[in-house]
Amino acid sequence: MAQDIFNKVNELIEEIKASKQENLEALEQFRIKYLGTKNIIKPLFAEIRNIHNDRKKEFGQLLNILKETAENKFNSIKNEMDNTALYEKSASIDHTRPAFPIESGSRHPVSIVMNEMIEIFSRIGFTVAEDREIEDDWHNFTAMNTPADHPARDMQDTFYLKNSVSQLLRTHTSSVQARTMMETKPPIRIIAPGRVYRNETISARSHCQFHQIEGLYVDKNVSFADMKQTLLYFAREMYGKETDIRLRPSYFPFTEPSAEMDVFLGTADERSKRLTKGTGWLEVLGCGMVDPQVLENCGIDPLIYTGYAFGIGIERSAMQRFNISDIRMIFENDIRFISQFKSA
Ligand code: PHE
Repeated sequence: MAQDIFNKVNELIEEIKASKQENLEALEQFRIKYLGTKNIIKPLFAEIRNIHNDRKKEFGQLLNILKETAENKFNSIKNEMDNTALYEKSASIDHTRPAFPIESGSRHPVSIVMNEMIEIFSRIGFTVAEDREIEDDWHNFTAMNTPADHPARDMQDTFYLKNSVSQLLRTHTSSVQARTMMETKPPIRIIAPGRVYRNETISARSHCQFHQIEGLYVDKNVSFADMKQTLLYFAREMYGKETDIRLRPSYFPFTEPSAEMDVFLGTADERSKRLTKGTGWLEVLGCGMVDPQVLENCGIDPLIYTGYAFGIGIERSAMQRFNISDIRMIFENDIRFISQFKSA
Protein backbone atom coordinates (compact mmCIF):
# COMPACT_ATOMS: atom_id res chain seq x y z
CA MET A 1 0.00 0.00 0.00
CA ALA A 2 2.68 2.43 1.02
CA GLN A 3 4.77 1.55 -1.98
CA ASP A 4 1.77 2.13 -4.25
CA ILE A 5 1.47 5.70 -3.19
CA PHE A 6 5.19 6.30 -3.62
CA ASN A 7 4.88 4.91 -7.14
CA LYS A 8 1.90 7.05 -7.85
CA VAL A 9 3.80 10.23 -6.90
CA ASN A 10 6.81 9.19 -8.99
CA GLU A 11 4.54 8.53 -11.92
CA LEU A 12 2.98 11.95 -11.52
CA ILE A 13 6.44 13.53 -11.54
CA GLU A 14 7.31 11.72 -14.75
CA GLU A 15 3.94 12.58 -16.25
CA ILE A 16 4.47 16.25 -15.53
CA LYS A 17 7.94 16.23 -16.99
CA ALA A 18 6.75 14.49 -20.15
CA SER A 19 3.65 16.61 -20.61
CA LYS A 20 3.35 19.13 -23.40
CA GLN A 21 1.36 22.35 -23.35
CA GLU A 22 1.17 23.86 -26.75
CA ASN A 23 -1.24 26.67 -26.20
CA LEU A 24 -2.47 28.96 -23.47
CA GLU A 25 -5.51 26.85 -22.89
CA ALA A 26 -3.47 23.70 -22.30
CA LEU A 27 -1.24 25.60 -19.93
CA GLU A 28 -4.25 26.82 -18.01
CA GLN A 29 -5.56 23.25 -17.75
CA PHE A 30 -2.16 22.24 -16.40
CA ARG A 31 -2.21 25.04 -13.85
CA ILE A 32 -5.68 24.09 -12.61
CA LYS A 33 -4.76 20.43 -12.35
CA TYR A 34 -1.46 20.76 -10.49
CA LEU A 35 -1.40 24.25 -8.98
CA GLY A 36 -4.98 25.43 -8.71
CA THR A 37 -6.92 25.62 -5.46
CA LYS A 38 -8.37 22.16 -6.04
CA ASN A 39 -5.20 20.63 -7.44
CA ILE A 40 -4.49 16.90 -7.27
CA ILE A 41 -1.28 17.27 -5.26
CA LYS A 42 -2.94 18.73 -2.18
CA PRO A 43 -4.83 15.56 -1.19
CA LEU A 44 -1.55 13.63 -1.39
CA PHE A 45 -0.16 15.69 1.47
CA ALA A 46 -3.09 14.47 3.56
CA GLU A 47 -1.81 10.95 2.97
CA ILE A 48 1.33 11.65 5.01
CA ARG A 49 -0.41 10.65 8.20
CA ASN A 50 -1.10 7.17 6.75
CA ILE A 51 2.57 6.54 6.00
CA HIS A 52 4.69 4.61 8.44
CA ASN A 53 6.85 6.86 10.59
CA ASP A 54 10.06 5.49 9.05
CA ARG A 55 9.10 6.73 5.61
CA LYS A 56 7.12 9.87 6.48
CA LYS A 57 10.09 12.15 5.82
CA GLU A 58 10.93 10.48 2.54
CA PHE A 59 7.34 10.79 1.39
CA GLY A 60 7.17 14.41 2.38
CA GLN A 61 10.30 15.15 0.38
CA LEU A 62 8.91 13.31 -2.62
CA LEU A 63 5.72 15.37 -2.47
CA ASN A 64 7.78 18.54 -2.38
CA ILE A 65 9.63 17.40 -5.47
CA LEU A 66 6.28 16.76 -7.14
CA LYS A 67 5.09 20.24 -6.26
CA GLU A 68 8.29 21.90 -7.43
CA THR A 69 8.27 19.92 -10.66
CA ALA A 70 4.77 21.18 -11.41
CA GLU A 71 5.72 24.76 -10.56
CA ASN A 72 8.91 24.68 -12.60
CA LYS A 73 7.15 23.15 -15.54
CA PHE A 74 4.44 25.78 -15.42
CA ASN A 75 6.92 28.67 -15.12
CA SER A 76 9.17 27.52 -17.90
CA ILE A 77 6.32 26.92 -20.33
CA LYS A 78 4.78 30.27 -19.47
CA ASN A 79 8.08 32.05 -20.01
CA GLU A 80 8.53 30.35 -23.31
CA MET A 81 5.06 31.39 -24.43
CA ASP A 82 5.56 34.99 -23.29
CA ASN A 83 8.78 35.24 -25.23
CA THR A 84 7.22 33.81 -28.32
CA ALA A 85 4.34 36.25 -28.05
CA LEU A 86 6.78 39.14 -27.70
CA TYR A 87 8.77 37.96 -30.63
CA GLU A 88 5.73 37.57 -32.79
CA LYS A 89 4.53 40.96 -31.77
CA SER A 90 7.84 42.63 -32.64
CA ALA A 91 8.10 40.67 -35.86
CA SER A 92 4.79 42.15 -36.91
CA ILE A 93 6.02 45.73 -36.41
CA ASP A 94 6.73 47.45 -39.68
CA HIS A 95 9.92 49.38 -39.04
CA THR A 96 9.66 51.21 -42.33
CA ARG A 97 6.31 52.72 -41.44
CA PRO A 98 6.55 56.52 -41.09
CA ALA A 99 6.12 57.81 -37.53
CA PHE A 100 2.99 59.67 -36.53
CA PRO A 101 3.55 63.25 -37.63
CA ILE A 102 4.33 65.57 -34.72
CA GLU A 103 2.37 68.75 -35.18
CA SER A 104 4.80 71.56 -34.57
CA GLY A 105 3.31 74.87 -33.57
CA SER A 106 3.77 78.06 -35.49
CA ARG A 107 4.41 81.57 -34.40
CA HIS A 108 1.82 84.25 -34.68
CA PRO A 109 2.57 86.68 -37.54
CA VAL A 110 2.65 89.54 -35.03
CA SER A 111 5.24 87.68 -32.93
CA ILE A 112 7.37 86.93 -35.96
CA VAL A 113 7.58 90.60 -36.94
CA MET A 114 7.89 91.80 -33.35
CA ASN A 115 10.76 89.41 -32.63
CA GLU A 116 12.53 90.50 -35.77
CA MET A 117 12.27 94.16 -34.76
CA ILE A 118 13.44 93.39 -31.23
CA GLU A 119 16.42 91.59 -32.66
CA ILE A 120 17.36 94.45 -34.96
CA PHE A 121 17.33 96.98 -32.13
CA SER A 122 19.03 94.71 -29.64
CA ARG A 123 21.99 94.43 -32.03
CA ILE A 124 22.64 98.14 -31.47
CA GLY A 125 22.27 98.10 -27.71
CA PHE A 126 18.56 98.53 -27.03
CA THR A 127 17.13 96.36 -24.27
CA VAL A 128 13.53 95.26 -23.93
CA ALA A 129 11.36 96.93 -21.30
CA GLU A 130 7.86 95.70 -20.53
CA ASP A 131 5.15 96.85 -18.22
CA ARG A 132 1.42 96.76 -17.43
CA GLU A 133 -1.40 97.05 -19.94
CA ILE A 134 -3.78 98.55 -17.39
CA GLU A 135 -2.23 101.94 -16.81
CA ASP A 136 -3.01 105.06 -14.94
CA ASP A 137 -3.81 108.31 -16.56
CA TRP A 138 -0.54 109.87 -15.40
CA HIS A 139 1.88 107.45 -17.05
CA ASN A 140 -0.15 107.12 -20.22
CA PHE A 141 -1.02 110.79 -20.76
CA THR A 142 0.11 113.37 -18.22
CA ALA A 143 3.76 112.36 -18.10
CA MET A 144 3.69 112.20 -21.89
CA ASN A 145 2.71 115.86 -22.04
CA THR A 146 -0.80 115.12 -23.20
CA PRO A 147 -2.97 117.76 -21.53
CA ALA A 148 -6.25 117.00 -19.83
CA ASP A 149 -8.26 118.46 -22.67
CA HIS A 150 -6.41 116.55 -25.38
CA PRO A 151 -8.82 114.64 -27.64
CA ALA A 152 -6.88 111.38 -27.11
CA ARG A 153 -8.15 111.39 -23.55
CA ASP A 154 -11.72 111.34 -24.73
CA MET A 155 -13.77 108.27 -23.91
CA GLN A 156 -14.24 107.97 -27.66
CA ASP A 157 -10.59 107.12 -28.05
CA THR A 158 -9.55 105.52 -24.79
CA PHE A 159 -10.92 102.56 -22.85
CA TYR A 160 -11.29 103.56 -19.22
CA LEU A 161 -11.92 100.95 -16.57
CA LYS A 162 -15.46 100.79 -15.23
CA ASN A 163 -16.24 103.59 -12.78
CA SER A 164 -12.78 105.06 -13.16
CA VAL A 165 -11.49 108.25 -14.69
CA SER A 166 -7.85 107.42 -14.12
CA GLN A 167 -7.45 103.69 -14.81
CA LEU A 168 -7.29 102.83 -18.48
CA LEU A 169 -6.00 100.38 -21.05
CA ARG A 170 -2.78 101.92 -22.30
CA THR A 171 -3.16 103.60 -25.66
CA HIS A 172 0.55 103.34 -26.47
CA THR A 173 3.61 101.80 -24.88
CA SER A 174 4.93 105.31 -24.22
CA SER A 175 3.73 104.60 -20.69
CA VAL A 176 6.68 102.20 -20.44
CA GLN A 177 8.97 105.06 -21.44
CA ALA A 178 7.57 107.10 -18.57
CA ARG A 179 8.00 104.26 -16.09
CA THR A 180 11.56 103.56 -17.24
CA MET A 181 12.60 107.19 -17.00
CA MET A 182 11.10 107.41 -13.51
CA GLU A 183 13.02 104.36 -12.38
CA THR A 184 16.41 104.58 -14.07
CA LYS A 185 19.05 107.18 -14.72
CA PRO A 186 20.38 107.95 -18.21
CA PRO A 187 21.86 106.61 -20.36
CA ILE A 188 18.57 104.88 -21.20
CA ARG A 189 18.26 102.81 -24.33
CA ILE A 190 15.10 100.71 -24.40
CA ILE A 191 12.49 99.32 -26.71
CA ALA A 192 9.03 98.67 -25.33
CA PRO A 193 7.07 96.08 -27.27
CA GLY A 194 3.51 95.31 -26.28
CA ARG A 195 -0.19 95.37 -26.79
CA VAL A 196 -2.12 98.63 -26.79
CA TYR A 197 -5.80 99.52 -26.99
CA ARG A 198 -7.82 102.24 -28.64
CA ASN A 199 -11.53 102.67 -28.79
CA GLU A 200 -11.81 102.46 -32.55
CA THR A 201 -14.45 100.98 -34.76
CA ILE A 202 -13.25 97.57 -35.84
CA SER A 203 -12.80 97.25 -39.58
CA ALA A 204 -10.48 95.59 -42.07
CA ARG A 205 -8.01 98.44 -41.54
CA SER A 206 -8.19 99.16 -37.82
CA HIS A 207 -8.81 97.32 -34.58
CA CYS A 208 -9.36 98.23 -30.95
CA GLN A 209 -6.18 96.38 -30.01
CA PHE A 210 -2.81 96.22 -31.70
CA HIS A 211 0.89 96.03 -30.94
CA GLN A 212 3.64 98.59 -30.88
CA ILE A 213 7.34 98.79 -30.35
CA GLU A 214 8.41 102.08 -28.93
CA GLY A 215 12.03 103.07 -28.61
CA LEU A 216 13.61 105.55 -26.24
CA TYR A 217 17.16 106.81 -26.09
CA VAL A 218 18.14 109.37 -23.45
CA ASP A 219 21.70 110.51 -22.80
CA LYS A 220 23.90 113.59 -22.99
CA ASN A 221 24.14 115.06 -26.49
CA VAL A 222 21.62 112.82 -28.20
CA SER A 223 20.71 114.54 -31.46
CA PHE A 224 18.11 114.34 -34.20
CA ALA A 225 20.89 113.06 -36.48
CA ASP A 226 21.48 110.15 -34.08
CA MET A 227 17.81 109.27 -34.34
CA LYS A 228 17.80 109.46 -38.10
CA GLN A 229 20.84 107.22 -38.35
CA THR A 230 19.31 104.64 -35.99
CA LEU A 231 16.06 104.61 -37.93
CA LEU A 232 17.91 104.31 -41.24
CA TYR A 233 19.74 101.29 -39.84
CA PHE A 234 16.42 99.81 -38.73
CA ALA A 235 14.79 100.40 -42.13
CA ARG A 236 17.68 98.79 -43.99
CA GLU A 237 17.72 95.75 -41.72
CA MET A 238 13.97 95.39 -42.01
CA TYR A 239 13.30 96.29 -45.67
CA GLY A 240 16.61 95.66 -47.42
CA LYS A 241 20.13 97.10 -47.65
CA GLU A 242 19.35 99.79 -50.22
CA THR A 243 16.20 101.11 -48.58
CA ASP A 244 15.84 104.88 -48.46
CA ILE A 245 13.90 106.70 -45.79
CA ARG A 246 12.39 110.15 -45.47
CA LEU A 247 11.23 112.05 -42.42
CA ARG A 248 8.14 114.22 -42.72
CA PRO A 249 7.32 116.85 -40.10
CA SER A 250 4.53 115.72 -37.82
CA TYR A 251 3.11 116.31 -34.38
CA PHE A 252 3.05 114.32 -31.14
CA PRO A 253 2.48 115.91 -27.74
CA PHE A 254 5.53 114.17 -26.29
CA THR A 255 8.16 114.94 -28.94
CA GLU A 256 9.49 118.21 -30.35
CA PRO A 257 10.29 118.28 -33.18
CA SER A 258 8.24 115.31 -34.35
CA ALA A 259 8.35 113.39 -37.59
CA GLU A 260 6.92 110.47 -39.42
CA MET A 261 9.22 108.11 -41.23
CA ASP A 262 8.45 106.58 -44.61
CA VAL A 263 10.47 103.90 -46.35
CA PHE A 264 10.80 103.80 -50.11
CA LEU A 265 9.42 100.64 -51.63
CA GLY A 266 9.11 102.04 -55.14
CA THR A 267 6.30 101.44 -57.57
CA ALA A 268 7.96 98.89 -59.80
CA ASP A 269 5.74 96.03 -58.72
CA GLU A 270 1.99 95.99 -58.29
CA ARG A 271 2.17 95.18 -54.61
CA SER A 272 4.43 98.12 -53.69
CA LYS A 273 2.31 100.36 -55.85
CA ARG A 274 -0.81 99.31 -53.99
CA LEU A 275 0.78 99.50 -50.51
CA THR A 276 2.17 102.95 -51.14
CA LYS A 277 -0.90 104.20 -52.96
CA GLY A 278 1.21 104.87 -56.01
CA THR A 279 3.75 107.12 -54.26
CA GLY A 280 6.42 104.51 -53.59
CA TRP A 281 6.64 105.68 -49.94
CA LEU A 282 5.26 103.65 -47.06
CA GLU A 283 4.63 105.18 -43.66
CA VAL A 284 6.34 103.09 -41.00
CA LEU A 285 6.69 104.95 -37.72
CA GLY A 286 6.35 108.12 -35.68
CA CYS A 287 9.35 109.67 -33.97
CA GLY A 288 10.89 112.80 -32.53
CA MET A 289 13.09 114.37 -29.91
CA VAL A 290 11.68 113.78 -26.44
CA ASP A 291 9.96 116.99 -25.36
CA PRO A 292 11.97 118.60 -22.51
CA GLN A 293 8.75 118.76 -20.52
CA VAL A 294 8.45 114.95 -20.70
CA LEU A 295 11.99 114.52 -19.39
CA GLU A 296 11.22 116.90 -16.55
CA ASN A 297 7.91 115.15 -15.75
CA CYS A 298 9.85 111.92 -15.37
CA GLY A 299 12.63 113.30 -13.18
CA ILE A 300 15.34 113.79 -15.80
CA ASP A 301 17.06 117.17 -16.10
CA PRO A 302 16.39 118.45 -19.66
CA LEU A 303 19.30 120.89 -19.38
CA ILE A 304 21.71 117.96 -19.12
CA TYR A 305 20.00 115.29 -21.15
CA THR A 306 18.28 115.01 -24.48
CA GLY A 307 16.64 112.01 -26.10
CA TYR A 308 14.73 110.65 -29.01
CA ALA A 309 11.76 108.32 -29.17
CA PHE A 310 9.93 106.43 -31.86
CA GLY A 311 6.86 104.22 -32.12
CA ILE A 312 6.25 101.49 -34.68
CA GLY A 313 2.95 99.73 -35.31
CA ILE A 314 3.50 96.02 -35.69
CA GLU A 315 0.26 94.85 -37.31
CA ARG A 316 0.73 97.05 -40.32
CA SER A 317 4.20 95.58 -40.96
CA ALA A 318 2.92 92.05 -40.42
CA MET A 319 0.07 92.68 -42.86
CA GLN A 320 2.47 93.97 -45.49
CA ARG A 321 4.94 91.19 -44.97
CA PHE A 322 2.44 88.35 -45.14
CA ASN A 323 -0.08 89.88 -47.49
CA ILE A 324 -2.82 89.90 -44.88
CA SER A 325 -5.70 91.97 -46.17
CA ASP A 326 -7.84 92.23 -43.04
CA ILE A 327 -6.48 93.14 -39.59
CA ARG A 328 -9.31 91.25 -37.90
CA MET A 329 -7.78 87.96 -39.00
CA ILE A 330 -4.81 88.70 -36.78
CA PHE A 331 -6.95 88.59 -33.66
CA GLU A 332 -9.42 85.84 -34.51
CA ASN A 333 -6.86 83.09 -33.90
CA ASP A 334 -8.43 80.85 -36.48
CA ILE A 335 -6.01 77.94 -36.61
CA ARG A 336 -6.37 77.68 -40.39
CA PHE A 337 -5.03 81.21 -40.62
CA ILE A 338 -2.31 81.33 -37.97
CA SER A 339 -0.84 77.92 -38.73
CA GLN A 340 0.31 79.26 -42.11
CA PHE A 341 3.09 81.29 -40.55
CA LYS A 342 5.96 78.97 -39.86
CA SER A 343 9.04 80.63 -38.47
CA ALA A 344 12.50 79.32 -37.85
N1 PHE B 1 3.18 106.96 -29.06
C1 PHE B 1 2.97 107.28 -30.44
C2 PHE B 1 1.72 106.58 -30.91
O1 PHE B 1 1.22 105.71 -30.25
C3 PHE B 1 4.11 106.86 -31.31
C4 PHE B 1 5.34 107.63 -31.03
C5 PHE B 1 6.22 107.20 -30.09
C6 PHE B 1 5.62 108.79 -31.70
C7 PHE B 1 7.36 107.90 -29.81
C8 PHE B 1 6.75 109.52 -31.45
C9 PHE B 1 7.62 109.06 -30.52
O2 PHE B 1 1.22 106.90 -31.96
